[in-house]
Amino acid sequence: MDLLDKNGLTEAEFLAKYRPGDWPRPSVTADIAVFRETAEGPELLLIRRGGHPYLGKWALPGGFSEPGETVDTAAARELQEETGLVGLALSPIGFFSLPGRDKRAWTMSEGFAALLPEDGPAPKAGDDAKETGWFRVDNRWEDGVLVLSFTGPERFEAKLVRDGSYAFSILDTGGLAFDHAHIVARALYAMGYLHPEPVDYDTLNAQLAALVEGVPHALSNLSNAAALLWERLGGINWAGFYLLKGDKLVLGPFMGKAACIEIPLDRGVCGAAARRNETELVPDVHAFPGHIACDSASRSEIVIPLRRNGHIFAVLDIDSPLLRRFTEADKTGLEAFARILEPAVADI
Ligand code: SME
Repeated sequence: MDLLDKNGLTEAEFLAKYRPGDWPRPSVTADIAVFRETAEGPELLLIRRGGHPYLGKWALPGGFSEPGETVDTAAARELQEETGLVGLALSPIGFFSLPGRDKRAWTMSEGFAALLPEDGPAPKAGDDAKETGWFRVDNRWEDGVLVLSFTGPERFEAKLVRDGSYAFSILDTGGLAFDHAHIVARALYAMGYLHPEPVDYDTLNAQLAALVEGVPHALSNLSNAAALLWERLGGINWAGFYLLKGDKLVLGPFMGKAACIEIPLDRGVCGAAARRNETELVPDVHAFPGHIACDSASRSEIVIPLRRNGHIFAVLDIDSPLLRRFTEADKTGLEAFARILEPAVADI
């Protein structure tokens, strides 16, 4: 027997009476952020728009989902029509539905991100794209504002503030069409290219001080220190300690993937920091002679000596998959972190 709803209707009767026009409908579109990786960092593919709105402006490739196709199919089709690229794995990165995001009408867009392999084909502008261009997208935080800096056939900067878990409001589109600055920010985040917001080291270091206070066990304190850094610093793939034993650094407590066990003092970023008794801040590990790649994903690194009576007894090593992850503010904050830790690990 057919089930009846609260109005006494069967499903067939309900559907016969249903008026879709009672529910205003948006159009659905797809926008695609295609990246390629270069020695200078990730580059993003943009198209110059050949039609209104935003005629002549740079935008992500994309377009309308047609009746009978999924938005994923629309994304692949639009990418092919506008850039000639086919067969890329397109991963959804979010749904963009802010009222007013499109000055034509009510549109909601599914964002996608993809990585063009190193030997991938060159894009070729087609359909309503006048031109394609690769842009390096550097990103940094300035007083709570995320600045996306585009360098390619033209240079421009977009500015955003974070108003949710990697949802952003646009302060300045920088000239990019629609809300594409927002979609780019989310795509950078999804790809692991977005720099984390600066850490409040006063709070972090107060937490470390509370964590080690009165604890007479060096190994426990080093382990908790690594865990705290791992939890609080964004954009890192390794955080831990190497302990000086004779003329070698030996792996101590850490968070991250299994790592090299012994590092001679004449090797690597850790060896250099220990030898020079100075912090090593390495913006690009590929450009550092003798860098030891425990994880091929690592792109930047900071190593801070831990001292007793001025002599090194360990180093704090932090790695990041992001180029230029560590700033002077990180250096100052982490050196203060090391000063708090030193007296708490005296018995190592
Ligand atoms: N990269 C370091 C080796 C240690 S791992 O990164 C954990 C170095 O060059 O010293």
